Amino acid sequence: MATKALITGGAGFVGHHLARLLLENGCSVLVLDNFSVGKRENIASLMEHPDFDLTVTDLTDEKATAEAVAKFQPEVVFHLAAIHFIPYCNEHPTETIKNNVVGIQHLLEAVRNTPSVRRFVFASTADIYRQQDEPNLEDETPVGSFNIYGISKIFCENLTRYYLKICPDVTFVNARFFNIYGPGETNPHVLPDILGYLAESDTLPLGNVDPKRDYIYVTDVAEALWAMSASSTPSTEVNVGTGKEYSVRELVDCIAELTGRGLTITHDPAKFRRSERMHLVADIGKIRRLTGWVPKHSLKEGLAELLQDEGIIEDHRPAARSRIPEAA
Ligand SMILES: NC(=O)c1ccc[n+]([C@@H]2O[C@H](COP(=O)([O-])OP(=O)(O)OC[C@H]3O[C@@H](n4cnc5c(N)ncnc54)[C@H](O)[C@@H]3O)[C@@H](O)[C@H]2O)c1
Repeated sequence: MATKALITGGAGFVGHHLARLLLENGCSVLVLDNFSVGKRENIASLMEHPDFDLTVTDLTDEKATAEAVAKFQPEVVFHLAAIHFIPYCNEHPTETIKNNVVGIQHLLEAVRNTPSVRRFVFASTADIYRQQDEPNLEDETPVGSFNIYGISKIFCENLTRYYLKICPDVTFVNARFFNIYGPGETNPHVLPDILGYLAESDTLPLGNVDPKRDYIYVTDVAEALWAMSASSTPSTEVNVGTGKEYSVRELVDCIAELTGRGLTITHDPAKFRRSERMHLVADIGKIRRLTGWVPKHSLKEGLAELLQDEGIIEDHRPAARSRIPEAA
């Protein structure tokens, strides 16, 4: 029988790619979303699928959340719903804590009362790691965040560990995502920003362009989640990244190469983030050992797919050689 998978936040950026992947793999999928950020157009093409269903519910509504979970009886729960644009979270701490922490609490309580659930996969973040220049290891890098978003996610991870004790039949995976990019991104991160400028100009007003991040293509994230849900590993934490890091300047160089355009970066002080860390990169040895998963897209391949999806380039194949240095 088809695996029944609940995706909270399934109308969002990562969620709708995951929903498509699960349907392709024969799952029966229920998306739960309040459409605060998620878009109906993201799931429009899935609505006709016989194994897809949608419930418009807010996780801060405990009764509605309990009813949705009890009615669907999922085997796997992917909890992706959250407020996660860091500047917004810092400006709206109460809303962020209520949405992210109270939201997962209601969901976990619903899971506790629903014996069909076997696996709970939580979308955590690399932002919970303390600053360090080296690749982050799940079981070694100290955890501790200085922004409301990261703090909310640490609290959420701790809640999953508490429920692990009281729900012995459920395994919990805290999947720590690094910087995700790809088609259908909902929040105003750097790549949607750059794509917006590219439509009109070769000049890109950006904030900090030197800090390096681990950029992972969205369908690779969906495949990592699917791999973790299908594996028989006990409860654990895993990084979901590529193990390579690039600066925004290097992203722009790669886009310039793929588009054949001479792009110029200008400094926009409004986008400057004061407490920017210089490095944030994953060690992905653990998820590879547990599941065999590795990301399929290099940065250049992912950016080429994104630019094609946006109609900015027609075909990325002729741009064969990269000037982007292979990151450590
Ligand atoms: N995108 C990234 O680079 C990134 C990096 C690290 C972690 N994450 C985490 O991955 C998850 C998915 O990220 P995304 O980029 O797809 O975000 P997104 O904002 O596109 O998707 C989140 C979805 O959750 C929904 N939602 C929010 N609060 C809700 C609530 N109370 N009830 C019901 N639905 C609600 C939104 O409408 C949206 O559709 C998030 O938990 C995020 O914190 C994302």
